[in-house]
Amino acid sequence: MSVENETAKRTVTMDKVVNLCKRRGLVFPASDIYGGLGSTWDYGPAGAELKRNVKEAWWRDMVQSRNDVIGLDSAILQHPRTWEASGHLQNFTDPLVDCKSCKQRFRADQVDSIRCPECGGELTEARQFNLMFKTFIGPVEDTASAIYLRPETAQGIFSNFANVIDTQRVKLPFGIAQTGKSFRNEITPGNFIFRTREFEQMEMEFFVRPSPDEELKWFEYWVDARFQWYLKYGINPGHLRLRPHAQDELSHYSRGTTDIEYLYPFGWGELEGIARRGSFDLDQHAQYSGKDLSYFDEESKSRFRPWVIEPAAGVDRAMLAFLLDAYHEDVVEGEERIVLRLDPRLAPIKVAVFPLLRKGGQPEKAHNVREMLQRYFPVAYDQAGSIGRRYRRMDEIGTPCGITIDHQTMEDDTVTLRDRDSTEQVRLPIAGLLTNLIERIGWHR
Ligand code: GAP
Repeated sequence: MSVENETAKRTVTMDKVVNLCKRRGLVFPASDIYGGLGSTWDYGPAGAELKRNVKEAWWRDMVQSRNDVIGLDSAILQHPRTWEASGHLQNFTDPLVDCKSCKQRFRADQVDSIRCPECGGELTEARQFNLMFKTFIGPVEDTASAIYLRPETAQGIFSNFANVIDTQRVKLPFGIAQTGKSFRNEITPGNFIFRTREFEQMEMEFFVRPSPDEELKWFEYWVDARFQWYLKYGINPGHLRLRPHAQDELSHYSRGTTDIEYLYPFGWGELEGIARRGSFDLDQHAQYSGKDLSYFDEESKSRFRPWVIEPAAGVDRAMLAFLLDAYHEDVVEGEERIVLRLDPRLAPIKVAVFPLLRKGGQPEKAHNVREMLQRYFPVAYDQAGSIGRRYRRMDEIGTPCGITIDHQTMEDDTVTLRDRDSTEQVRLPIAGLLTNLIERIGWHR
């Protein structure tokens, strides 16, 4: 078998990926049966697996395989004082203008003229619009029960700082990491899952001794480590770059941020930000809560509030980047195919098992193989249609390995194993299958 047209040229567009995602159950428009709800998305069966794998890869690399980072899973709803202390109530705003004619809203910094980009109507003066979603806790809807959905997962880490140092044997420098949903009432969401109002973050607060040297050392370390992380899972280095923030675009809590940007089909956009937050958050929470949020340093026998380096990534944006980079169109034996060349560790399904024919004991044998492998990997079974079409369906969701049970299997207990990218097939005994697959896939569950 040959793969022609194996080209590094980028043919991917947002439309192609959005269509593939809908067609193959990766991402569906949310509330589809009611006509959709602007810029909200649901992850379908293959998408849910891919998303879990992205988070799992991050968790393994950032928490489980290190001895200086521990995990946390804090509540989405936090005490409203949290957001006063963190500065989000005051500062987490975008400048907003309304069109007096068509009533559409725009971010003031994204419109070039004083006229509405949609209808040419007159725009209002810019006013600050807070991006936090507000709701009420309990049955009474009054100001005393107003509460916010978290706009970043980070604050749950800062408010647990004392709990962590009181209960865990941590020593500086150390990090606390968590993944989870965050919510922002973005004025202009869009570009598929790039900017949405409900999204998932993977954040880590890394606490260091309060000294400019330590801060710089760890900042550089994390910028590099996070850049390498995307390369490790298959992002083309040419599609990644670092962009330090200008002074006037820094978030209110940051005294220095570098973004890792990805080259989306609509241009360079933020994938992850690494910020130097100093002791801003711990200082604020100590002041607003009246609690002692300092750390006792055995070495210097002194107490202080550590400084923070924060690598903050988006699950949905990472997933979009992995999908865009994996998307390829090529020609196999004269037939065009779409193939997602996802890193096998991220692939939603690792192995597909196909009986060549629906008779001669082949389906039963294939089910036995599926059951054996399913203890270790997510496995698909497919007996519908020609074998070529079955391969194609699996290529489209990035399944790295396809196993075919044929008449020879029934005689000698061997199967063919097809590689998604090269489409090459090898014959091997069922007894050696698991070891071979573990090697190809990188890790099993
Ligand atoms: N705790 C710091 C923080 O939240 P951020 O740069 O505002 O920093 C971190 O967010 C990451 O979260 C971004 O790099 C992006 O990947 C993701 N993110 C932020 N807003 C998003 C949105 N509206 N939709 C999807 N992802 C978003």
